[in-house]
Amino acid sequence: MTKKKLRSAEWFGRDDKMGFVHRSWMRNQGHPDHMFRGKPVIGICNTWSDLSPCNAHLREFADIVKRGVYEAGGFPLEFPVMSFGETLMKPTSMLWRNLVSMDTEESIRANPLDGIVLLTGCDKTTPSTLMGAASVDLPTIVVPGGPMLNGKFRGRDIGSGTATWQLDEQRKAGTLTQEEFLEAESCMSRSAGHCMTMGTASTMATMVEALGLTLPGASAIPAVDARKKVMAHLSGNRIVGMVKEGLNLSRILTRKAFENAIKVNSAVGGSTNLIIHLTAIAGRIGVDLNLADFDRLGSNLPLLLNLMPSGKYLMEDYYYAGGLPVILEELAGELHMDCITVNGKTLRENNSGIPCYNREVIARMESPVKEQAGIAVLTGNLCEDGAVIKPAAATPALLKHKGRAVVFTSVEDYHRRIDDPDLDVQPDDVLVLQGVGPVGYPGMPEVGNFALPQKLIRAGVTDMVRISDGRMSGTAYGTVVLHVAPESAIGGNLALVRNGDLIELDVPARTLTLCVPEEELRQRKEQWTPPPPVAQRGYASMYIREVEQAHKGCDFGFLKGGSGSDVSRNLH
Ligand code: FES
Repeated sequence: MTKKKLRSAEWFGRDDKMGFVHRSWMRNQGHPDHMFRGKPVIGICNTWSDLSPCNAHLREFADIVKRGVYEAGGFPLEFPVMSFGETLMKPTSMLWRNLVSMDTEESIRANPLDGIVLLTGCDKTTPSTLMGAASVDLPTIVVPGGPMLNGKFRGRDIGSGTATWQLDEQRKAGTLTQEEFLEAESCMSRSAGHCMTMGTASTMATMVEALGLTLPGASAIPAVDARKKVMAHLSGNRIVGMVKEGLNLSRILTRKAFENAIKVNSAVGGSTNLIIHLTAIAGRIGVDLNLADFDRLGSNLPLLLNLMPSGKYLMEDYYYAGGLPVILEELAGELHMDCITVNGKTLRENNSGIPCYNREVIARMESPVKEQAGIAVLTGNLCEDGAVIKPAAATPALLKHKGRAVVFTSVEDYHRRIDDPDLDVQPDDVLVLQGVGPVGYPGMPEVGNFALPQKLIRAGVTDMVRISDGRMSGTAYGTVVLHVAPESAIGGNLALVRNGDLIELDVPARTLTLCVPEEELRQRKEQWTPPPPVAQRGYASMYIREVEQAHKGCDFGFLKGGSGSDVSRNLH
């Protein structure tokens, strides 16, 4: 059926004892003999789980992908990876991104698979599975699970995550009752799918389409729209073709494709989490991305998409307006439109002559939502290996600010003191949170947009400069400096900040400065002792030992690169 020998033939194409073993046990599922003879075997990597609410519909989607694979002459086999519920897992799902990447990588390599379909949705399910697949480098297509329908609460649209922070602030300010707050729960999440703001899940879906790893237009289709099922069916069709053509991941994931993804992220107002995940994916496929690339390529582009948290609308509106193909065509002059995509065509061939049906939602380059979007990368003595801020989500007046530090040494310390009426804090102060980096927490949770002191909220303060070594949910907003590296738990200068120190943030100059004399800093460093490790055994202890800092993507050093798809030893 294919000219090139299929990888799966090493299992199913043998007439010896091991061929018998490989086929015989599979026959208990009722597969006829011809399924084992020369058909591309397609692994459907499913992140479905009842414990992953945003991906709960993907069990059904796997069956739809299978339809497409059968129709194109392939043999689909579905396999699970670890449950990965962003909103359920403690202490943070990021702790397991690398573990799921290992699960995916080893599951693919060890099994008789020729091509891979990744069924993804919630934040980490996309980067983790893609990292694993990249280290094997088979033909791979992504089917993003799609966003939920717009949240609707008391006659207005509310967006996942973004509304959570807003409603909580209103509750704390006394403008929303507890009953109204609880009522909003089911109004916000009213269909299958992932967060429908431009949070990290939508950012990741956009990223894979911009990288060329989905069929055109796939990322914005709502999870419950029938056209999402069509996309899943067609993706099942297409992966069989990709195997026959030898269109492996590394042919699509080129340096140019990564540059496109950075630029597109700016234009859609995507999450700061993109930096960490894209850097990690690039590291697996042998493309060297660094923090400076994100500022250089992305920080001068305009914001074209008017979506929460940077704007007004939600993913459903975006899909009806035309979705990512409209953005790609608007940005064409900035992108490498000759990049090849999973359907064998270039970005230009896939995304030319695309109509836009709502310019309120997707703006033109000449009249953008905001002039400059993207992510700014900061350097300075407070972040010697860098830090990031999303200016579009910040208060413009605070982008250049000098203030007195109010320091919290851990999340627990923060919760203990933040709402203390006697806390010495003024609206012009800079709130500093230590101990929430990759090693310190561990897992670098999304706490960087930590709430302001209640007494200041009640006084009408809506934003303050906040600095931490943690991350921020893509649905969040505020003048929030994130990903400070090196983190405090390994002795970065963030660990040396004391109450009352002056800190200067200058986003236009890209600097973050702790205004303490060098000699004083040196003395503080000498006196500093590392906190005891948070975990002594198990996966968490390995994570603490092996995880790299934020500017390198928080991957494990030993997972960088790939090992290809060869398996050197047989089962027996
Ligand atoms: Fe799953 Fe937002 S929590 S996508």
